[in-house]
Amino acid sequence: MILAPSILSADFLHLEREIELINQSEADWFHLDVMDGVFVPNISIGFPVLKAIAKIAAKPLDAHLMIVEPEKFIFQFRDLGVYSLNVHYEACLHLNSTIAKIKAAGMKAAVTLNPHTPVELLEDILDELDMVLIMSVNPGFGGQSFIPQSIDKILRLKEIIRRKNLNTLIEVDGGINLETGKQVVEAGADVLVAGNFLFRSNNPQAMITQMKQKINYKL
Ligand code: DX5
Ligand code: ZN
Repeated sequence: MILAPSILSADFLHLEREIELINQSEADWFHLDVMDGVFVPNISIGFPVLKAIAKIAAKPLDAHLMIVEPEKFIFQFRDLGVYSLNVHYEACLHLNSTIAKIKAAGMKAAVTLNPHTPVELLEDILDELDMVLIMSVNPGFGGQSFIPQSIDKILRLKEIIRRKNLNTLIEVDGGINLETGKQVVEAGADVLVAGNFLFRSNNPQAMITQMKQKINYKL
């Protein structure tokens, strides 16, 4: 299981300390949530802050674009050194072309689905994707409760991936804690995003270790 702490829940007054904490931890990736106030009812961080993070982040950057017209910014995310770029299915009119551009720019291409978007809509593009990100809350805010229906979506997506003999990763984002984390990994998730649960705990670094161990070794 790959664990990607979401910086959205970090203490922005002490961002350097928070990034170093993740660097020192057993977490695998950084999950960066970018919101434009149009695609989602919230605005998060933009390039000045992302650049500062990228400068000291020592693990792969997983960028989650909750913005309209994400294709406009592909090169800027590549220049930041982003490893995987997630664009929303609901924000891309020409998804095939956007995915091709992300891959041509040298990044892993991922498509994100809102809770109401069925996984079956990806049947004809799945071969092109490195990863699918299933939103298990409505995007826009950290700290929301996990939507249980997400489990069924993960099971159905895993089945399609198996049938097509692909190795597309399944990432799950929203309301992930020890309990929901276990459930989604059992259903077939490969990558877990966790924000509030990690950063609001007394010892985020220890919680990261605990999460990885408990879920990986089914403790
Ligand atoms: C929500 C973001 C998530 C969020 C997850 O729109 O995409 O990445 O930060 O936070 P938690 O784990 O608190 O639900
Ligand atoms: Zn996210």
